[in-house]
Amino acid sequence: MPWWLFRRRSRSTSGAPAPAQPSSGWQLGEVALPLLHGSRRYLQEQPYLLPKDLGEVNRLDFQHYILRAVLRGNYLAPIQQPRRILDVGCGTGQWAFELAQQFPQAQVIGLDLEQVKAATSPPPNYRFVQGDILQGLPFDNDSFDFVHQRLLVLAIPQAAWPDAVQELVRVTAPGGWVELVEAGTALQDYLPSGPATQEFYQLGSQLAALRSLDGEGLVMRSLTRYLEEAGLVNIHYQVLDVPLGEWGGRIGSLTALNVREGWKAISAPIAARFGRSEQDLLQLIERASQEWNEFRTSSRMAVAYGQKP
Ligand SMILES: C[S@@+](CC[C@H](N)C(=O)[O-])C[C@H]1O[C@@H](n2cnc3c(N)ncnc32)[C@H](O)[C@@H]1O
Repeated sequence: MPWWLFRRRSRSTSGAPAPAQPSSGWQLGEVALPLLHGSRRYLQEQPYLLPKDLGEVNRLDFQHYILRAVLRGNYLAPIQQPRRILDVGCGTGQWAFELAQQFPQAQVIGLDLEQVKAATSPPPNYRFVQGDILQGLPFDNDSFDFVHQRLLVLAIPQAAWPDAVQELVRVTAPGGWVELVEAGTALQDYLPSGPATQEFYQLGSQLAALRSLDGEGLVMRSLTRYLEEAGLVNIHYQVLDVPLGEWGGRIGSLTALNVREGWKAISAPIAARFGRSEQDLLQLIERASQEWNEFRTSSRMAVAYGQKP
């Protein structure tokens, strides 16, 4: 089912979701990424741009610890004692593992297209569920007290965001909270920027647009609207400018390393699509990271949360 046909799944009279429609697969359009591209592994039938491999698992865990430090915690919503917590697009599951440890009385579910880190032993109150937010969530209405979704801007096509957020709200119980964390994808989200940063940004933005993903920072700026349109109240929106590079101390150095690895992670599809050599792109990324120190660049992200009435 292509994303523009994505609809919230119809409900049975009991309020339970109808059985999932079989997926006819994502229509990749112009850029059909091979499953294996060089040393990286990408998903074929999804708009998701980043790789699914060990290198990305390590980057996501590394990024998790940076985000936790930047946010001074794992969430901003004023949750009390949630009984059921859902993390959509849970990645390595690290955020959900920590929530499960923090709230041992709660059941915590991590949902993703694929399970990674299956070999590690998660907390006993954690469970992985395979699912696809673009196909609707396999949960009943009003099931969770806290629904969290972080960094899916390169996974959910821009036009599918309102429906995706409605789906998060559908499974949230009255009084429960939904929290969204997203990174900026516009050039204005890397300011001030030098020429190498601008050049790489243009390539990434064009690649995102080919998959109908947001390469212009619109999703991050629309989080409040999505939550409002989905009927939430008590909405809060917070922008965070995180330094990139040694000029920003320890967080700046770690964030620069994370962004550098994230950019490398999409270099293979950029090289394939725009006829650039990967070597050339790696040099561009190195020049960009030098600029971040020279220009004292920051990268922008935002957190939005709201409560279901
Ligand atoms: C950038 S990672 C972020 C992971 C995690 N939220 C975090 O902050 O560490 C995006 C995750 O979303 C997952 N994903 C992509 N498309 C998805 C979809 N349609 N439904 C559910 N998960 C999806 C990917 O497999 C990946 O694990």
